[in-house]
Amino acid sequence: MSFESKDIHPIFDKILTRNDKEKLLNQHSVVVWLTGLSGSGKSTIARALELELHQKGYISKLLDGDNVRTGLNNNLGFSDNDRKENIRRIAEVSKLFLESGIVLINCFISPTQLIRDQVRNIVGEENYFEIFVNTSLDTCERRDTKGIYAKARKGLIKEFTGISAPYEEPINPDIEIRTEEISLEQSVEMILSKLLPRIKY
Ligand code: ADX
Repeated sequence: MSFESKDIHPIFDKILTRNDKEKLLNQHSVVVWLTGLSGSGKSTIARALELELHQKGYISKLLDGDNVRTGLNNNLGFSDNDRKENIRRIAEVSKLFLESGIVLINCFISPTQLIRDQVRNIVGEENYFEIFVNTSLDTCERRDTKGIYAKARKGLIKEFTGISAPYEEPINPDIEIRTEEISLEQSVEMILSKLLPRIKY
């Protein structure tokens, strides 16, 4: 039997779909998107959620503002345009993970409706699971774990969300977590009760 290279037609892209990956991983992928003020508790909830998912056998990827901004997005600041670009790139990266069957857990302030609509458009409404981490500015400022609210009040950090830049509350999130009213464990339980049915294969 003769063999010619022109007769080789790679078709991997056509064969391996998102569904194939999901089947292999025994899960459905989704983009879990936590939005809220700096210091609202997004990362704490995301880390606890990731641990729970891991223990239940789900593969996830956690993306976080402070981390992504030291790497992929280290050329971006906090102007409205830079925030848009920050979130656009993260949404595109999320789409790649989504196509690989992985559950994304993203924590970004993502302060405006427009910015979050951009995510919806890029990843697809059906793949977007929005969590509003609702902690009052007062509480975030009182906690001030990173000492940045104090700096923002002194004017040392410009365009600071909640102080000198806007935060628009999401209109109809899949889940709202009032961190001043419920514990971390309750928050994770609340998320899992709605998320697990979506990611179970
Ligand atoms: S976003 O607005 O573009 O979604 P992102 O979540 O990536 O923000 O980054 C927020 C983190 O950057 C905050 O938790 C805080 O540590 C830091 N930060 C530094 N400057 C600012 C600022 N002007 N406004 C908000 N957060 C800031």
